[in-house]
Amino acid sequence: MSKALVPPGPKGRFLAGSLPELRRDPLGLYTRCAREFGPVATLRFGLRRVWFISDPALIEEVLVTKARNFVKHYGLKMNRLMLGDGLLTSDGDFWLRQRRLIQPAFHRDRLHAYAAVMAEYAERAAASWRDGETRDLQADMTRLTLEIIARTLFGADASGHAREVYAALEQTYHSFNSRIFSIIILPESVPTPANLRMRRAVHRLDRVLYGLIEQRRTAGTHDDLLALLLHARHEDGGGMTDKQLRDEAMTLFLAGHETTALALTWAWHLLARHADVYGALQDELKTVLAGRTPTVGDLPRLQYTEHVVQEVMRLYPPAYALGRQAVAPCELGGYRLPAGATVLMSQWVMHRDPRWFDDPEAFRPERWADGLAKRLPKFAYFPFGGGPRQCIGAAFAQMEAVLVLAAIAQRCRFTPAPGPEARPAPGMTLRPDGPVQAVVHVVSRRGDS
Ligand code: HEM
Repeated sequence: MSKALVPPGPKGRFLAGSLPELRRDPLGLYTRCAREFGPVATLRFGLRRVWFISDPALIEEVLVTKARNFVKHYGLKMNRLMLGDGLLTSDGDFWLRQRRLIQPAFHRDRLHAYAAVMAEYAERAAASWRDGETRDLQADMTRLTLEIIARTLFGADASGHAREVYAALEQTYHSFNSRIFSIIILPESVPTPANLRMRRAVHRLDRVLYGLIEQRRTAGTHDDLLALLLHARHEDGGGMTDKQLRDEAMTLFLAGHETTALALTWAWHLLARHADVYGALQDELKTVLAGRTPTVGDLPRLQYTEHVVQEVMRLYPPAYALGRQAVAPCELGGYRLPAGATVLMSQWVMHRDPRWFDDPEAFRPERWADGLAKRLPKFAYFPFGGGPRQCIGAAFAQMEAVLVLAAIAQRCRFTPAPGPEARPAPGMTLRPDGPVQAVVHVVSRRGDS
């Protein structure tokens, strides 16, 4: 190997390294790092050195070809108190056993059963909005996707707890953000104010989840994800303990609503500012649905709607960066990656790379119409990650995003409300920095046509 031992990267400050910039503008920092220092670069955050990878073939190496040499990185593991050993945070044989057990719950036939809930809840939300009112679409989309995941995961029983769960999840999100951007990341067991708040929130969530699990163990048959998890059996015939069930349910609950809510929020944000795209979307919905509630059977014909979703997740990927930690040393892009090194890859950076996307900052759903997805290198576009740890809910989320967008867009149009335009404020996910306010214009009511 002729290259330097450590890849190039920004020098940063004496003790903090690039941490101040990470706090101020992580997306800018990652983008600059990739454009200035090339496919393999290093960044220092306080005492941690992170390898930043921005080449599709190298990302494929980490996530697919050499996947066995990597485990989840410290950022995700910081969520242990909340997520326990659920699918997102566990590793190795334990993870594989659980993934195999849970995968059937995301089988196509099962997903189709959830489509009606998704479309119906979206219709109900749209029907409750009044013409001319201003709404906070992030709050609306979060409530909607939370209701959908609560209904599909836990059945009707969960709806009574929605408000409590929402408040507790918000608390954990903020506690996580206040820790990840610190110079020294203290373990969750240290009683800092953020950790104590996190503990109380997790305790509230636990009470709800264990209550639901207990109800299921003792009562009746149900046809939702929790029932499937409860009855799932490993090859040796064993099922999950209550703690495993709690961890998996908590993980699916969190991972299953926040990201989809953000994809939908950014979709409305962009649509409200691109009347031409909104018009083309509504034309498709008129032709395909003619005022009906969308169903799973409509999906193959809702092509433009699907392209809108693809393009939104290109520009605003709800999961905007992924991390891994090397278990053993390995070769990466001509460098020797030491054991224990953290590797970061960013969808935000890759999705806006002019090598793969013409006019990358422009919102143009039609760019996906002529098979762009097939022409791209595999990891130039990866909103759901890839390899063995690819998002288990990818098909669920895509279906939900298309159905919700279709159901609402045929009833309403949004225009931006006065006030500052929302910008991304990346934390655990790519949330906006404030409310995404829009004015509702009712186009048609159910049963109008
Ligand atoms: C637009 C919506 C969504 C996006 C952008 C998204 C993104 C991702 C990404 C990038 C990963 C990989 C993380 C990594 O490799 O470190 C992931 C994993 C995961 N996602 Fe999603 N996700 C979405 C929706 C969902 C939904 C709806 C569910 C469940 C109902 C879900 C459950 C999970 C789980 C359990 C994992 C961990 C899988 C494993 O490691 O085996 N996600 N997601």
